[in-house]
Amino acid sequence: MPPLIRLEHLVKEYSDSEQPVLALDGVDLTIEAGDFVAIMGPSGCGKSTLMHLLGFLLSPSSGKYFLEGKDASSLTDDERADIRNRRIGFVFQSFNLLPRTSVLDNVLLPVEYMPDADRAAARKRALELLKLVKLSHRLNANPNQLSGGEQQRAAIARALINRPALILADEPTGNLDSKTSDEVMDLLSELHHEGHTIVMVTHEEEIAARAHRTIRMKDGRIVSS
Ligand SMILES: Nc1ncnc2c1ncn2[C@@H]1O[C@H](COP(=O)(O)OP(=O)(O)O)[C@@H](O)[C@H]1O
Ligand SMILES: [Mg+2]
Repeated sequence: MPPLIRLEHLVKEYSDSEQPVLALDGVDLTIEAGDFVAIMGPSGCGKSTLMHLLGFLLSPSSGKYFLEGKDASSLTDDERADIRNRRIGFVFQSFNLLPRTSVLDNVLLPVEYMPDADRAAARKRALELLKLVKLSHRLNANPNQLSGGEQQRAAIARALINRPALILADEPTGNLDSKTSDEVMDLLSELHHEGHTIVMVTHEEEIAARAHRTIRMKDGRIVSS
């Protein structure tokens, strides 16, 4: 079986601003299915850019990304969108919950993009996931009525609705108190044991210690993995 993720000399340059920024400067990386990986490194070193590339939210300037052995650049936009919806779960700060939309409907949001989805089954799974993240009592609340930790847990439930093979979490415990961080990490560990592959960015050593492998970045490059 090919590795879940293989990156070959991935380069990402942001050229929209007057001063181009080389955010990723030749990243080579292999991540096996079932791995639990922490990505660490100083602010601005390219961690979020790497996560966006892994989630097909950005395209590389050069280099190759193979997902399950398939060259991502050979996929059409529709194929990429389909993989993003069905195979990848995002726990990103920038993927906030929709306001004025209940917790339950937020969790069901990814299913809205799937015309052939079984709605009743999805609803049942959403309720199970919200139970798992201990939000069963808040199904009808709007996100602004939840604490930061509850919002993060709701975002995790949403990320899991489609049983994604790959979970991408960018600072999932950022802005959380230590008790809630522990709860979120317990949940991610549990998902790892269930077979999900997890790639998580964190700047806290303690959080990274919960992963099975730590990748350190600096100036757009991997310095240890
Ligand atoms: N959309 C963008 N346009 C231009 N530059 C960007 C953009 N996003 C990030 N950058 C720059 O790319 C570099 C890497 O950013 P990022 O991947 O967010 O780092 P990290 O997540 O490690 O803090 C930084 O210098 C940042 O300013
Ligand atoms: Mg970042």
